[in-house]
Amino acid sequence: MARMPLIAGNWKMYKTEEQSEDYIQALLPRVSSVETVDVAICVPFTDLRAMIDSARGSRVEVYAQNMHHEVEGAYTGEISPPMLSELDARGVVLGHSERRTLFGETDKALALKVPAALEAGLVPILCVGETEAERDNDDTDRKLRQQIKDDLAGVAPERLAEVVIAYEPIWAIGTGRVATAEQAQEAIAFIRALVGDRDKQAAEQLRILYGGSVKPENAAELLALPDVDGALVGGASLEAESFAAIIAAAESAPR
Ligand code: PGA
Repeated sequence: MARMPLIAGNWKMYKTEEQSEDYIQALLPRVSSVETVDVAICVPFTDLRAMIDSARGSRVEVYAQNMHHEVEGAYTGEISPPMLSELDARGVVLGHSERRTLFGETDKALALKVPAALEAGLVPILCVGETEAERDNDDTDRKLRQQIKDDLAGVAPERLAEVVIAYEPIWAIGTGRVATAEQAQEAIAFIRALVGDRDKQAAEQLRILYGGSVKPENAAELLALPDVDGALVGGASLEAESFAAIIAAAESAPR
């Protein structure tokens, strides 16, 4: 079965609840006829309930951007998997490079978070990717191999296909410097092969997104690549119009 593309907007720390309401009212009519692409917005915790209520019955799924791996406990300021699933969040972004570099998120933590998300019925979008220095030093494959191995270590083979992976070269995030089609396809095919070393069938089924300066102008080329199953979009997801244009590009991409 063909993999359904997923276009996920990562809002980061943007939009109050009031701003998020304006956004979803602008987005819903623009995606009402979408049939062949899954659409997600990954929103701040404080926007979750409002966005889940407003998007109910539409094609737009609502994800969180982080969570703790424990079900409950003395972890001031943290949010647990059941807290997200009780709200009907569809999933959660895990291991975004901003969380790794600015907030000390480790592969060890991710090895616990990814299975904890699945356990709670949440779809994890696991982000991986190399720095500019790692790419320049031909270290990209090593970095991806290590992240995929460590971060998915706790996921049983029969659940691997439920994970979404986002390949986000760190040098392309928020910089306007998008990976070339060749770089994106090569890295994502490599990640698929790494998953295939664990489980061949899961590797065929699991979706791998590209992220890093995806815009309406470059989306069509990236989304037509054979191993690219969608995009994780930061800046260009903040306006309903440009996000909808990327979703439209995914709808018309040859699969
Ligand atoms: P960008 O962000 O599209 O603004 O580069 C992507 C991301 O951080 O997921």
